[in-house]
Amino acid sequence: MKKRGIKYVVKKGNQFYPSEELKKIANITDPKIYTQAAKDPIKFWGDLAKEGLTWSKDWDKTYEEKLPYFKWFKGGKLNFSVNCVDRHLAHPEKTALIWVPEPKDEKPIKISYGELHNKINKFANVLKTNGIKKGDVVSIYLPMIPQALIAMLACTRIGAIHSVVFSAFASDALKARIQDGKAKILITSDGYYRRGKPENLLKKAKKAAKRTTVQKIIVVNRIGKKVRGRKFLDFDDELEKAESYCKPEMMNSEDTMFLLYTSGTTGKPKGVVHDTGGYATQAYWTCKWNFDLHPEDVMWCTADIGWVTGHTYAMYGPLLTGATTLVYEGGPDFPNPGRWWKIIQDHKVNVFYTAPTAVRMFMKIKQNWITKYDLSSLKILGTVGEPIDKKSWMWYFKTIGGSRCPIIDTWWQTETGGTLINTIPGIGPFVPTVSGKSFPGIKHVIVDDKGKPMPKGRQGFLAQTSPFAPGMLHGVFNNHKKYVDTYWKKFKTMYDTSDGAYLQDGLIRITGRTDDVMKVAGHRLATAEVENAIHDNRKVGDVAVVPMPDKMRGQVPIAFVVLKRGKPGKKLEQKLRKYVDIKIGPTARPARIFFVPDLPKTRSGKIMRRILKALLINEKPEGLMTLVNPTSVDKIKNIITENS
Ligand code: WT7
Repeated sequence: MKKRGIKYVVKKGNQFYPSEELKKIANITDPKIYTQAAKDPIKFWGDLAKEGLTWSKDWDKTYEEKLPYFKWFKGGKLNFSVNCVDRHLAHPEKTALIWVPEPKDEKPIKISYGELHNKINKFANVLKTNGIKKGDVVSIYLPMIPQALIAMLACTRIGAIHSVVFSAFASDALKARIQDGKAKILITSDGYYRRGKPENLLKKAKKAAKRTTVQKIIVVNRIGKKVRGRKFLDFDDELEKAESYCKPEMMNSEDTMFLLYTSGTTGKPKGVVHDTGGYATQAYWTCKWNFDLHPEDVMWCTADIGWVTGHTYAMYGPLLTGATTLVYEGGPDFPNPGRWWKIIQDHKVNVFYTAPTAVRMFMKIKQNWITKYDLSSLKILGTVGEPIDKKSWMWYFKTIGGSRCPIIDTWWQTETGGTLINTIPGIGPFVPTVSGKSFPGIKHVIVDDKGKPMPKGRQGFLAQTSPFAPGMLHGVFNNHKKYVDTYWKKFKTMYDTSDGAYLQDGLIRITGRTDDVMKVAGHRLATAEVENAIHDNRKVGDVAVVPMPDKMRGQVPIAFVVLKRGKPGKKLEQKLRKYVDIKIGPTARPARIFFVPDLPKTRSGKIMRRILKALLINEKPEGLMTLVNPTSVDKIKNIITENS
C-alpha cells in the first residue's frame, strides 16, 4: 500500500498556500520578515551571518560599498569547510552524503559527517603536499561522484580557489578555463558511467592540460582504467597515504572561494568570482528558508556540480545546514524512466530540486513509471534555470507532488551565488509561472532601459538595488572591464540581471534573457560561443546562431552558415554539429544548421539576429530597411521552409 503523505498546501481561491501542517514545521512563516528586513537590510544580513555561521573572528564592518564593488562582513574570518563539516561533528555518524552510482549492480554509498571530515582533511593534505597554497587555483573536472565533493571542500579547507568545469564540456572548453585561472593542479577521473556506458573523461582532460600551467593531474579511478605517467597521481592512493588532520585556514570573509565560468554575450566565458563569507551566508539561509531544510531532511538537487546550482544546492547548502544531500551519478532514465522516482522512494527524499526541462521530459513518458513509486516522503519541490510553463508546473505539482507539495520556482544566476527571487514555503502563495518575491533583505526593481521604474504590471528590465545580496559575485576573474561592462554599464548604481520581468499581483514573473544568452535545457550558452566554434571550421565563411523556442529543451541553438567552400547538405550539417561537440560539448550542438547565401546585416556589418529569430518562428521580421542586403531575408525564409 502506498502512503499518501502529508498535505503541505491548501487551495485558497485560485492560489496555493502553505497548510497548517507545513506552517507548524516550517523554518519561517511570518510574512513580516520582508518588511522587517527591508527596514535595515545590512543589519538583517549581519544578524543572519552571525546566527547561521561559525566565525573565528567577528567583522569590523558589515557592509562596504564602493561601486561597482562591495564587501560583506569585512574583517571577519571563517573557514568554509569548518562550517560545512566540523561544526556538525557532535553527531559524526549522521549521513552527510548519499551517493547513488548509475550501474544497478553497484550499491549506494552513505558518507557520514565524520567520514567526510576525515576525507577532506586528508585530501587537503594531499593538495598541500603537491604545492597548493592559499589563493592558488585548482581545476576540478569530475563527474557526480563523492570525490568531487571531497576535492571541493578540501580546497576550501586550505583556502585554495576551486574552479569546477562541467564534465560534459569538451577539451577545448576545459583548456580555456585552466588557462584563465592558471591552475597548477587538475583533478579528474578516468571516466564515469552514462546510460550504461563508461565515458572516457581522462582523454579529454589530458588533451586540455597539455601546454598549460597544470603540473599534476590527480585521477579518481572510477571505471578501472590504467593510468600511467609521472604527471599522474591516483586520488584514493594519495588520500590513503595522507595525514589525517589538516588545520583549517581561516579566511577573510571577502577572500575568493571559487571561480565558476559562465557564458555572457561574447564568445569567451567569464570567470565569476565568489567570496567566502557572503556566499556562505546566502547558501545557508536560502537553503534553510527556501527549501525549508531541516537537519533531518534529505535534499536532492539534480544539477551537476559543473553548474552553480550543483555547487550551492547539491553540495554546500545542505551541508552548511547539517542536512543530508543526495548525489546521483547517472542518466535520469537509466536503466528505465523510473530511476529518479525509485531513488526518491528508496532514500526517502524530502526536498527535490530540478529543472523545467526534466519536468517536461517526464511528462511525456508512460506515467506508470512514476506513479508506481512511493513519493510520499516529498515535502518541497523546486524548479530552476528557465521559466516554467503552467502545464509543466501543474503536472509537477500533481504527479510528483501528489498535489501536496509547494513548488518553489527559484530565480537566480551563476553570478548571484544563491537563489534570490522565489516564494518561501511557509509563507506562499505558490503561483504557476511566477517566481515570487525577492528574498528578505534584497530588492529588485523592474525598469526601462534608462533605469526608470516601469508602470506596475508592464514588462521591463530586472535590476537589483543596493545593498547587494551577500552571495553576489565579487568580480570577473582578472577582468575588471568585463565586470563593469556586463553588470554595471547600463544602470550604474544597480546590478543589471540581463533578464526581463513584470509584476503580477505584486509577484515577479520572469520573462527570460534580454541579451544574446540562450538557455538550452536550462544550460547557459552564448550565441557567440557557438558561432566561434562553427567559425573555426575552414569551410565556414560566416555564421549566426540564434535560439529557437523548443517544447522540450526550452530553447535550442539554430545556426545559419555561409560557406566559403564545400557543398551544403545533410553531410556537412552533421559534420559541423559534431564540430561543436568537440569544441564546446554536446549541450551546445545546434539542433539545425541552415546553409544560406548571405546573412542579414546592417550598414555597419552587424548581423541582425532578431530577423533570423523571427523567421524561425514564422513571424514577419521588422526593421528590414536598416539592412544592406534586404533580399537575403526572403532567400533565408525559403531555405528554412524547404529544409524544415
Ligand atoms: C539565467 C541564469 C542559477 C540557477 C541556474 C541557472 C534563467 C534561472 C530561472 C527561473 C526563469 C530563470 C535566467 C537567468 N533563470 N532561474 N526560476 N525562472 N528564468 O543559472 O546558468 O547562470 O543562468 O537562467 O534567464 O538569468 P545560470
